[in-house]
Amino acid sequence: MNQGEVAQWVDQARSAFAAAQDLDSLKAARLAHAGDKSPIALASRSLGSLPADQKASVGKIIGEAKAAIAAALDEATAKLEREQDERVLRDEVVDITLPVSRSHKGGLHPITIIKNEISDFFVEQGFSVAEGPELESGWLNFDALNIPADHPARTMQDTFFIEPVESGIVLRTHTSPVQIRTMLENEPPIYVICPGRTFRADELDATHSPVFHQVEGLVIDKGITMAHLKGTLDNFARHMFGADVTTRLRPSFFPFTEPSAEVDIFFNGRWIEWGGCGMVNPRVLASCGIDTEIYSGFAFGMGLERTLMVRHGITDMHDIVEGDLRFTRQFGVGL
Ligand code: FA5
Ligand code: MG
Repeated sequence: MNQGEVAQWVDQARSAFAAAQDLDSLKAARLAHAGDKSPIALASRSLGSLPADQKASVGKIIGEAKAAIAAALDEATAKLEREQDERVLRDEVVDITLPVSRSHKGGLHPITIIKNEISDFFVEQGFSVAEGPELESGWLNFDALNIPADHPARTMQDTFFIEPVESGIVLRTHTSPVQIRTMLENEPPIYVICPGRTFRADELDATHSPVFHQVEGLVIDKGITMAHLKGTLDNFARHMFGADVTTRLRPSFFPFTEPSAEVDIFFNGRWIEWGGCGMVNPRVLASCGIDTEIYSGFAFGMGLERTLMVRHGITDMHDIVEGDLRFTRQFGVGL
């Protein structure tokens, strides 16, 4: 070993470190040129066997060479680490401007959302939620509700009859037959609502649809009066439309209530009919086996589309029934 050889090891180490393209190849170069078996390490280890007069001078040469190799290694390591960091930042960058294909989760139709909201409101007050069939017997849809055979609602104009017509089955024209089903199956006290789909041979226009929804309410208990009906409806209206909603009861006629009224809501500068209501006709109570000496009750039936229209300022029924997602999405997911 002479000084020229040592200088060569240093040069070889420097160029090997500088040539390393990544930290893995630098590691291999480090083992070869600065590891336990590298020429400089072997030379360093053999120092002990040198004659005493050479030890100091050769030791100095080897010490300086080791320091030079270590410095070259540090420099190469720092450079490659910096390059690796830059590469990661560049390669793994997320392009947030890139359009993604989003899958939509879907959601509930606004009618379903409002139906759930109404159910929650009444359930909180101790009502239960009843359901009845959409295909209903004409007897429950009309006769049991005291709607006489010559009532205009029974003509082909308003009612969808199911063939054969002798079957007596109709698409229910309102949710009121659920009143009868409930009274036949339960003893008073009765506090029930029934939201559901109803059908009438009406033209689809800005405020009507042949398929629409109603929510029926029925209360039968001791000492129920018109004041309870009015209080319940006012609460209901305030819950749906806000504290300063304007409502009015307008005298009307339904064969199954006596007295009867229409409930109107002030909307878009005019009164719009929200639903019908009244005190359950004692004839209807009696035919359901309820003792009218002890019990009295009230009932109401509101349109859900009307409720939605008034609350959200929707002026055209088409928006509700056509299922355009641009309309539906404005009401949120509602899950
Ligand atoms: C009835 O259906 C009665 N069963 C309501 C009732 C229940 C009275 C209990 C007394 C006691 P009416 O036909 O007025 O009543 O309908 C009630 C509501 O349903 C209307 O006020 C309106 O909000 C809604 N409605 C009726 N027809 C349509 C339709 N074609 N499209 C949208 N909503 C309708
Ligand atoms: Mg009406």
